[in-house]
This record gives sequence, C-alpha cells and structure tokens, in this order.
Amino acid sequence: MNTPFLSVRVARKAVAAQDICVFELVAADGAALPPFTAGAHIDVQLPGGLTRQYSLCNPPHETQRYQIGVLRDAASRGGSLAMHEQIQAGQQLTISAPKNHFPLVAGAGRSLLLAGGIGVTPILCMAEALGAAGADFEMHYCTRSRTHAAFLDRLAAAPFASQVSLHFDDEAPAQRLDIAALLASVSADTHLYVCGPKGFIEAVLASARAQGWAEARLHCEFFAGEVINVDTDAAFEVELKRSGRVVTVPKGITIVKALGDAGIDVMVSCEQGVCGTCLTPVLEGQPDHRDSYLTPEEQAANDQMLLCCSRAKSARLLLDL
Ligand code: FES
Repeated sequence: MNTPFLSVRVARKAVAAQDICVFELVAADGAALPPFTAGAHIDVQLPGGLTRQYSLCNPPHETQRYQIGVLRDAASRGGSLAMHEQIQAGQQLTISAPKNHFPLVAGAGRSLLLAGGIGVTPILCMAEALGAAGADFEMHYCTRSRTHAAFLDRLAAAPFASQVSLHFDDEAPAQRLDIAALLASVSADTHLYVCGPKGFIEAVLASARAQGWAEARLHCEFFAGEVINVDTDAAFEVELKRSGRVVTVPKGITIVKALGDAGIDVMVSCEQGVCGTCLTPVLEGQPDHRDSYLTPEEQAANDQMLLCCSRAKSARLLLDL
C-alpha cells in the first residue's frame, strides 16, 4: 500500500478555463518521472498537511512531466484553494508516484468516455491513450459553459478531434448530452468510463444500470466524496484482530479518528472515501458503507471497508488490523 514519494518542481502554472488551473510538474532532479497509465492520479502534499488526489492529464507516454488540472472549488476543504492561491511556478512539491484505480480495460471492443467539468482530466488522458492505440472510442465533455471548459484547443488539435463531442449547459438544447439516448446507442461490448461531479457520475451510472449495463462495463472515478453523517448514527466497537484491542467509535467520530485517539494510526489520504488508501479487510460484522470507492458488489460482500468514512451496522466489527 505504501507508494514512493517524489520531489517535483512546478515548471508551469496556467489558467486553463474559468476556475481551472493546470500545473506542469517535473522531477526536482531533472530525471525521468515514473511511467503511468491513463486514468492514473497522484497524491499531492499541500501546505497545512493536506493531501489531495489529482488525475494526470498529459499523454501517458510522457515521462518528462506530469500535468494536473485543479478546479477552484467553492466548497473546497482547503485543497483546491491551496493549489490555486499558494502553489506557484518554481515551487517544489512532494507527490506520490502515480496510482491507477481507474484503468482502461484491455481489449474492450469500444470505449465511451464521459467527462463532466473537471472530470475531463483522466478522461482526456484516456482519449490520448486510446487515440494513440487506434482504438475505437468516443468522448463527450459536458461543462456549464465554454468558459468553464479546459483543454478545448488541445481537443480541437488532437488526431481524435472528430471523436470528441462538447456539450454546454448554457447553449442550445439540441447540443446538450442526452445520456440515456447515448447509452442506448452503443454496442454491447462498449465499456463506459465516467468522471466528474458526484451528481453527474450518479446520473450516468443510474441511466446505464436502468438500461441493463453489466457492472463490469461501468467504470467511474469520484473526485470528492461527501462525508455523510446521519442523525441515527450510534457508537459501535472495532476489534483489531492482530492486537485484540477493542476501540469504541462514538457517534460523529470516524473509525480513523477513534483509532488515532487510541494511538493506532491508519494511513489516510483523501479522508473522503474516494481514494482507497484506508481500505481494510473486515473479518466479522456488518459495515455501513459510505464511500464512493467500492463498487456496489464490493460493498455488498462486506469483507472490506474504508475506515475514513464508513461506520457499522453491527455493534462490533472485527478488522484485520
Ligand atoms: Fe481515501 Fe479513506 S483515505 S478512502
């Protein structure tokens, strides 16, 4: 689970669209960066001890740089504001090596790429990879307006430009994306990749499931989770298999926090149930899954959970910790 950390320098910071900055990162020592595959992200360590995940959006054959796009999010818990306001060209940053929880499926007959807003970053990288491989795909990019859309020049100049459709909320209704019609129009061997705001992803997945798409053909990546607290939440216990210790998790406190207060550190990154860093095997008990990382099938299996956000439906959970 440990990923090596890298020291990089911000070689370039540029405004790519309204509220979106693109950062180009190069190795601080000038060496080649570790290779990555389309859909990969890096963890970026930010001032104040924050760690945030950003998808790589440059073509995946490049090793001389990583490029990330960051939305200035009004609801930010500090990460996007820090990137926009405190990180400048020339500064050094510590990042993780690339990790990929959103890979392209090898050998898919056809790929349908759907991006909403800043979700374009991994989707653009996927389009670059599929385009370079001569694969059969189409990409749809939905934003509030043209001024909110990043990478338009790059998409227009790409060899795969004819496979890209743009959809703007504030323009003619005829050009808006009809998700259900699009999903109904593709062949049965198509794999769907969707990234963007939670509501966008959920609308696309719900439409696909309503049309009978198999889960194995649905792939998504959430950028930010909603940490859900419910009035009826109650305290529960977690038992740690390796030490036998039992820790009470009060209402309103995460398992990670309760364990930390008891002197047991769990590695975390996003703390929003989206990155998978705190994924832990569950040996007994029933988790109350509140993450955006596991698939519905994985959640239903109840044999693993994200400790930064999920709770328990049973009085006690036995964790492989
Ligand atoms: Fe990211 Fe828990 S720390 S899912």
